[in-house]
Amino acid sequence: MKQRKIGEKLVGEIGLGCMGMSFAYSGGSEAESVQVLHRALELGSNFWDTADMYGAGKNETLLSQVLKDRRSEVFLASKFANVYDRTLTSHQDLVEQGVPYIVDGTPAYIRKCIDLSLQRLGVEQIDLYYQHRVDPRTPIEETVGAMAELVKEGKVKYLGLSEASEATVRRAHAIHPITAVQSEFSLWTRDYEATVIPACKELGIAFVPYSPLGRGFLTGEIKKFEDLAADDWRRNNPRFIGENFDLNLKIVEIVKSVSDRHEVNPGQVALAWVLAQGDHLVPIPGTKRVKYLEENVAASDLVLSEKDLEELSAIQPPQGDRYPAAAMAVLEG
Ligand SMILES: NC(=O)c1ccc[n+]([C@@H]2O[C@H](COP(=O)([O-])OP(=O)(O)OC[C@H]3O[C@@H](n4cnc5c(N)ncnc54)[C@H](OP(=O)(O)O)[C@@H]3O)[C@@H](O)[C@H]2O)c1
Repeated sequence: MKQRKIGEKLVGEIGLGCMGMSFAYSGGSEAESVQVLHRALELGSNFWDTADMYGAGKNETLLSQVLKDRRSEVFLASKFANVYDRTLTSHQDLVEQGVPYIVDGTPAYIRKCIDLSLQRLGVEQIDLYYQHRVDPRTPIEETVGAMAELVKEGKVKYLGLSEASEATVRRAHAIHPITAVQSEFSLWTRDYEATVIPACKELGIAFVPYSPLGRGFLTGEIKKFEDLAADDWRRNNPRFIGENFDLNLKIVEIVKSVSDRHEVNPGQVALAWVLAQGDHLVPIPGTKRVKYLEENVAASDLVLSEKDLEELSAIQPPQGDRYPAAAMAVLEG
């Protein structure tokens, strides 16, 4: 696979989002997730993304099963700051109650989180450590100052932010180099196109688009609301609910018209479009299935024409917010 740079490190330009292996999206098995992790390395998809909140630590522990033998092959990213309410244990709780977390960016909380993440992952250092959401009560200078201490101690190599505004990225970068900003970006989520993405380019920061497949919607595989299992988090996402779902299918139709011309899958077109938005973008599509992983990695070979890119970029914004209200409230950008 072609490679792109994060800090000084070259990684496969299609990374791997691991969240859905343990959290938010239903289905799959731990055994297949482990197969996906091994296959990803065979295919050059070595930039893995996890967080302490994914399954309240379960996702990091899952990754440790592969990291124990293959640590040196992986560029490993994890995150802290979303204080996941551990009294809620099932996906059903999430569906009913939204995303029940608060954000903590205080130095004391960071110190606690890093040691727990290192322990669960079974590693001595995390390559890229992100603040998952910006804490409005703690100045970013204080948070990044504490994160920089972790770099000095060797617990972390590079620092990142997630869903931070351009102003916050600039303030943070003045305290300690920020190596990557991870935020939602895809054909149906283009909030940062004119702000954070060009600012990252200017500052030499990688931009990591999460949910680049529109949480699976842009692949065309989710055809109706009922295709989502009863415990699937997307049942709580406004873009998947009611008439929004049907209206948003128009977007998939446009993506399909392009993928039909290339005889590929719509998801591959969605990923190729993201890659074409700048060589500092490194998307992390999520999957727990080997078949999907192989398809997603193959998007690295898909070249879209100017006409394709124009048609795709002309897609109108979707119906519905990208998160339920409680989670929208903790997005800074
Ligand atoms: N920083 C943040 O706040 C934040 C928020 C959300 C996500 N993330 C990160 O970003 C990663 C990716 O985002 P995401 O998982 O939310 O959304 P995504 O990558 O847009 O879509 C994932 C969904 O698409 C399905 N899928 C994947 N490849 C497919 C293919 N080739 N054909 C058909 N369906 C396919 C997956 O199915 P299966 O699950 O069945 O494989 C899953 O349901 C996450 O894993 C996580 O690491 C970060």
